[in-house]
Amino acid sequence: MNTFLKMALLFGFSLHAVAHEAALEKVSVAKDVPSIERGAETLMGACHSCHSMKYIKYRDLIKFGMDKKKVNEWSGGQSLDLPLLAQMSENDAVLAFGKAPPDLSVMTKARDGGPRYVYSYLIGYYQTKDGLPGNHIYPETKMPDPLGIIGVTDEKQLSEIHGKARDIVSFLAWAADPREEERLRLGYYVLAYLFVLTVLLYFVKNQIWARLDRIS
Ligand code: HEC
Repeated sequence: MNTFLKMALLFGFSLHAVAHEAALEKVSVAKDVPSIERGAETLMGACHSCHSMKYIKYRDLIKFGMDKKKVNEWSGGQSLDLPLLAQMSENDAVLAFGKAPPDLSVMTKARDGGPRYVYSYLIGYYQTKDGLPGNHIYPETKMPDPLGIIGVTDEKQLSEIHGKARDIVSFLAWAADPREEERLRLGYYVLAYLFVLTVLLYFVKNQIWARLDRIS
């Protein structure tokens, strides 16, 4: 085969691959406490059995402003200083699914596309022609459709599921960077401090130069 043909084929294949990769859905990540709390609640019901979030402790959720009673329920009465560990052991999960469910603490930072990737993956399930579950974003995934979107055609139900996925992703985005707001606030303080310092130094400089002017 000549080189030109090989190049053409290679190019053709890569175009093919790109054309079949589903585009990521857009999602606006919420930053408000109620949305993020709803996301945590859905995650506790639909994801927590398999997935851990080992960098987040129950107490972090309360500190962020979530309802203490709910968080206590989620923890099952355990100490609030424990991290959100999966209910299923990793070994059992591997036996059941052939793969360990990854920790979700920093998942929205770990994948290209971030929150959009996770959102599109969650709502990307469909039924293949052979009646098997498929996923547009991660076709060979071993995770069973966690939000039960396969087979749903009713618009209202679909938008409810999309809303759940959005809340979950908002919670995951918060969890991946829980100190973001604190850092922003600190940034503003630093800017304000530098501004005041500049003004003060300006007056000090004026005073010194005024004295020098008098001397000369
Ligand atoms: C029944 C167990 C189970 C449940 C429930 C479950 N997952 Fe998973 N999840 C898995 C397994 C197993 C994998 C590994 C899949 C793979 O790589 O093939 C996985 C992988 C993932 C990944 C990583 C995908 C990637 O790109 O590697 C994300 C994100 C994820 N799950 C999010 C969720 C969310 C959010 C929920 C709740 C709505 C959820 N999962 C519920 C078992 C589960």
